[in-house]
Amino acid sequence: MCGIIGFVGREQAAPVLLDGLARMEYRGYDSAGIAVRSEARGLQVRKTKGRLQALSDLVHGGADVEGTLGIGHTRWATHGEPSDVNAHPHVSESGNIALVHNGIIENYLEIKEFLLCHGVTFTSETDSEVVAQLLEFHYNECHNMLEAVGRVLRRIEGSYALGIICSDYPNALIAARKDSPLILGYGEMGNFIASDVTAIIKYTRDVVYMEDREIAVVTAEGVDVFTSDMTPVVKEHHQVDWDVTAAEKGGYPHFMFKEIMEQPEAIRRTISPRIREGRVVLDDVRFTAEDMEKFSRIFIVACGSSYHVGVVSKYNWQRLLRRSVEVELASEFRYSDPLVDEHTLVVVISQSGETLDTMAAMREAKRRGARTLAIVNVVGSSIAREADDVLYTWAGPEIAVATTKAYSTQLILMDLLGLYLADLLGTVEKAEYDSVLTQLQALPDQMQRFLDGFEDVKYFASRYFNHNSVFYIGRNLDYAMGLEGSLKLKEISYIHSEAYASGELKHGTISLIEPGTLVVALGTHEALFDKAMSNVVEVKARGAEVLALTTEPLRERMEKIADATIVVPRTHPILQPSLGVVALQLFAYYVALQRGCDIDKPRNLAKSVTVE
Ligand code: AGP
Repeated sequence: MCGIIGFVGREQAAPVLLDGLARMEYRGYDSAGIAVRSEARGLQVRKTKGRLQALSDLVHGGADVEGTLGIGHTRWATHGEPSDVNAHPHVSESGNIALVHNGIIENYLEIKEFLLCHGVTFTSETDSEVVAQLLEFHYNECHNMLEAVGRVLRRIEGSYALGIICSDYPNALIAARKDSPLILGYGEMGNFIASDVTAIIKYTRDVVYMEDREIAVVTAEGVDVFTSDMTPVVKEHHQVDWDVTAAEKGGYPHFMFKEIMEQPEAIRRTISPRIREGRVVLDDVRFTAEDMEKFSRIFIVACGSSYHVGVVSKYNWQRLLRRSVEVELASEFRYSDPLVDEHTLVVVISQSGETLDTMAAMREAKRRGARTLAIVNVVGSSIAREADDVLYTWAGPEIAVATTKAYSTQLILMDLLGLYLADLLGTVEKAEYDSVLTQLQALPDQMQRFLDGFEDVKYFASRYFNHNSVFYIGRNLDYAMGLEGSLKLKEISYIHSEAYASGELKHGTISLIEPGTLVVALGTHEALFDKAMSNVVEVKARGAEVLALTTEPLRERMEKIADATIVVPRTHPILQPSLGVVALQLFAYYVALQRGCDIDKPRNLAKSVTVE
């Protein structure tokens, strides 16, 4: 997630900007920059790939850049790899306007085409630079910055938090937001804009939260806020009482909890730019129907939770593509002399894009002639760079070692990709295609509703946190989802757990079920609910304590048998794991909390496993 800070006041801006950016480092970034305006030097822009220290060194801690008006940015790449030129602030062609942006401009390509036709030249690959150039285009038309900003905001589609300064306006910065958070800070030494409280809490706790489509004009003397039609707005001030540590987690107790709660928004970022007029649109993928017909085998290869995404996708893709889909652990695939050739599609999934086993498996697949497609969160990561095609999840940086929002956005992106490929192959009925897509767009709101009230999950965690062995049982997609639920519990609470295909239990493992054994019975996959119920009866008969997970329509039947039941909203079968897994993430989180574990940094684990 990018971080924005802006300042206008009675002190030099550069040190304030650098300090604010440093306080947002926890958000994760790959480049940083500042722009400061002074009478003598006009707009001074300094930006660089890499750590914030490199930027600070570049400007000697801010001493090299003078002026009391400025904007700063830490970039988390979405469009365009991490580089000096792709770093923000972006500057208009004349050098008269500097802009920082957090969000995704969905129609940037068509606007870029328009501007190129009008002779505008670009220096970066980013969507954000398009906004800077479009702003100059309109400013040159109307010679009024506020009016030009209004015209730009009416033209762009997608999410944005913007900070803008212009050589012609020595005392004011302009801010605007839609779907990306932006706050206004009122301080003794001057006034601020920032992506979150952390950046400015040292200077002020008096803040205003901008609403979507609002525009703010910030000067050293005050702040004026307008609606998109330039109607002045009186805003409520808030006094922030967080301590700095809490502020870094957005007020949440742990990054993992923050990232669980961010999932609806992360999924919106993943899907919104890829659904247009009722169709899945994947600008980044260059598959044709002929390509798809050519693939006689499809592999999904990954590690850990990313592998679990592959297991869910195997069921969904086989349903959609009517093709055999094989899912393999990367560490096994690479040494298994895989049956891979030029007629094979290998999809690799990796949040970090740096997992060595997954990278090695992809290289082995390429060496054997396969077409490789990577599903990655970190833009410009090694796997992203080496794959033939890459689709980014745009989940934003994931700080907690135990993945949640990255898993969820991978899962959703694989559902979108499955629909896209099935459409290419002509193997999905229009009714199913439309139904999945409609319900996929409703998923974030359904997830939000569940996240708005999960006291029962917290209670069950307090009831069951002392168990030393837990089974997650389910069939089909429930089993696949259970793999992730089980890993979440193991990773952060250190409780031994096993996900098991419930139809397989009777072939041996059921001998482990004894009075009091905790079994998390997953019953959200409607088509096999009766079978799942019979397996619940089986374990109950041997004394198991059953915590069930099901959907609203199945609640009554499940509650007749289970000792406790968590209910999630019902959606299309293909999408159901995306809702159920949130309950399992929260259950693991609260169990670990009860056990006093280090939730964000579990023992023995690393966020990215770059060793064999
Ligand atoms: C997820 O909670 C784990 N931290 C781990 O299994 C992770 O999914 C795995 O190491 C793969 O990482 P990647 O997605 O970055 O490749």
